Amino acid sequence: MAFYTLKLRDDDVVEMLDQRKLPLEIIYVELKTYKEVYDAIKDMIVRGAPAIGVSAAFGLYLGAKSLLDLPEVNGYETFKKKFFDIADFMFSARPTAVNLGWAIGRIKELVETEGKNVAQNNAGLKKIVSRIRVESIKIYDEDIEINKNMGRYGASLLKDGFNVLTHCNAGALATAGYGTALGVIRAAVSENKKISVISDETRPFLQGARLTTWELMEDGIPVTLIADNSAGLLMRKGKIDAVIVGADRIASNGDVANKIGTYQVAVLAKENNIPFYVAAPLSTIDINLESGDGIPIEERDINEVVMVFGKRIAPENAKALNYAFDVTPNRYVSAIITEKGILYPDYKKSIADVFGK
Ligand code: MRU
Repeated sequence: MAFYTLKLRDDDVVEMLDQRKLPLEIIYVELKTYKEVYDAIKDMIVRGAPAIGVSAAFGLYLGAKSLLDLPEVNGYETFKKKFFDIADFMFSARPTAVNLGWAIGRIKELVETEGKNVAQNNAGLKKIVSRIRVESIKIYDEDIEINKNMGRYGASLLKDGFNVLTHCNAGALATAGYGTALGVIRAAVSENKKISVISDETRPFLQGARLTTWELMEDGIPVTLIADNSAGLLMRKGKIDAVIVGADRIASNGDVANKIGTYQVAVLAKENNIPFYVAAPLSTIDINLESGDGIPIEERDINEVVMVFGKRIAPENAKALNYAFDVTPNRYVSAIITEKGILYPDYKKSIADVFGK
């Protein structure tokens, strides 16, 4: 792959491919503070549940490092208090993707554990900060590995010659690399199966048109872009063999929150007897959440709806709604592909089993 989504450089600068600009401009932004990382998540320079989690981990490292320069941080307790404030701030960047809280929780836990082991001086704090750095890179590396494992399992569901519809971008651009839904497609292609992808454009942010189409073309995987409202027609015509999407949060009963518009694709798939698959790492499953009703749905600026690339397309002062995600009830989900295997209904049971509950 000729691009990378994000990385933490040796000089402690976080680099991100600016996804607001793709595919017309390929620009990497350099982020030097945790606040810049927060803004990058909020403004969707980086997006996609796993990529948001990895970004937050890198951001927390930059935040922790900056605390070492503060005179008022003079021991573990003052460090921890300020670090947890930074963690809460980072958590508020976007509400729906559970991976954000998952990654932040993992780093907070590390800080608590290390706090018990290190000396109560600046050297001790430096040690904690360097452990955060190692952990954030581990989260990055693990994400790629997890996606590859998910791909290996999921590829068994895609037969040679399949036309696969996807919504939004659940690819390398939405993760540290390789992708979830697109990772499954990549794995099937690498097994020499002929797979063609139909990409929903995904209004209003156009992740399908701008990101999925670009990412797959970069990789030489056949892809055809459609307007969101074409999916039903193509399904009825027998032009779609399977749907595969990613997820931002999956409740313990298998209800799936994903990009707005996913629900209607899932309903159409069931109506047309087409399997609807969700590919997501276990970190996307919110095991403490009983159903999708409890998933917070992000509402974004209505300018994303009333304008396209800064050009107004609706009347001045038009009312608009901009929910960024919807919830697909579990009855529409044929299978959930994870790094530990493929889960089938009854999801309450199969999800509990995979978590050893
Ligand atoms: O608003 P976005 O672009 O962050 O939404 C992304 C999605 O909905 C993806 O499908 C989801 O995060 C899975 S990414 C592997």
